[in-house]
Parts: sequence; C-alpha cells; structure tokens
Amino acid sequence: MIRRGNSLADSISSSPEETIALGEGIAALLQRGSIVALRGGLGAGKTCLTKGIARGLGVSEEVTSPTYTIISEYQGKVPFYHIDAYRLQGDDDFIALGGEEVLYGAGVSVIEWSERLPHSIPEHALVIEIEIIEQDRRKIHIAQGAVEE
Ligand SMILES: Nc1ncnc2c1ncn2[C@@H]1O[C@H](COP(=O)(O)OP(=O)(O)OP(=O)(O)O)[C@@H](O)[C@H]1O
Ligand SMILES: [Mg+2]
Repeated sequence: MIRRGNSLADSISSSPEETIALGEGIAALLQRGSIVALRGGLGAGKTCLTKGIARGLGVSEEVTSPTYTIISEYQGKVPFYHIDAYRLQGDDDFIALGGEEVLYGAGVSVIEWSERLPHSIPEHALVIEIEIIEQDRRKIHIAQGAVEE
C-alpha cells in the first residue's frame, strides 16, 4: 500500500546552520502531541534538523545522538522526545520500549529512521524527508500524513 501525505513545503538547505534554522521554524508549527517523522539516509541531516526543532521548542540542553539510546527526553516549553529508530527491529520493538506512551503523551516527538516504524506513525504526523543533493546541499520535503511503502 502506498499512502502519500499532503505535501506542505519543499526547501533547499545549503548548510547545517540553515537546516537548524529550518528546524526552528518547524518548531513553531508544533504543539503537545505533535509527532515529526524524519526520513533520509545516513548523514542526511536528521539529527541536525532535530537540534533546530529542539532549540525552537526552548530546549537549552544540546541534542545529541548517543549510539545506544533509542529514546532521549529533554525539557523545553513542553517535554521533547528524540527517538532514533535505527537500531530497532520494527514496531513491536518500539512498543516494548514504551514508544506508544511517548508518542501519545503530552510532549513533542521527533523520530529518526521513522520508516522502520511503519505502523507507529499516525496520520497527523509531519513527515520530513531529507535528501542529500551534494556535499552541503539538502532537499527537505515536508508533508503531513504517514507514508507506507
Ligand atoms: N545542509 C545541511 N544540512 C544538514 N547537515 C548537513 C548539511 N550540509 C552538510 N551537512 C552535514 O551532514 C551531516 C548530517 O549529520 P546528521 O547527524 O544530522 O545526519 P543524520 O541524518 O542524523 O545521520 P544518521 O543517519 O547517522 O542519524 C553533518 O556532518 C552535517 O555537518
Ligand atoms: Mg541522526
């Protein structure tokens, strides 16, 4: 099944700083319960965009990507959850870790490698796909709604 979300915006970023700034702008669209699903290969810039979103939500601590941490919690204007699904086998693994309580709780969640959790991403999620165009350039596509392939 292929379900394409509604396309909201396409943007080009020419540097990590621009991607962070874009993340800060995206944060203004988010509220408690918002879910942002990030897609894009290794080194695309998912964590970089997440840093911007966190900053925009008033998180002062620096968002990092510890290798074996799946769910990191930060405090901003609302609780902020950074989920890295890279090492998860799939939705069942995520649910066993308490992922659903996080997604349906009172915070904002950003999920890297969200394509690994096809059944956990709800329809209302913002789905952001980052594509590497060249060394420092990224195409960033923002849509609303889960995508299944
Ligand atoms: N326009 C850009 N936007 C974001 N990152 C960029 C850009 N140009 C270059 N980069 C570089 O690309 C890398 C992106 O790393 P980042 O950790 O954010 O990627 P990631 O998608 O989270 O990777 P992973 O799949 O390993 O989690 C960084 O080294 C960053 O400096
Ligand atoms: Mg990352």
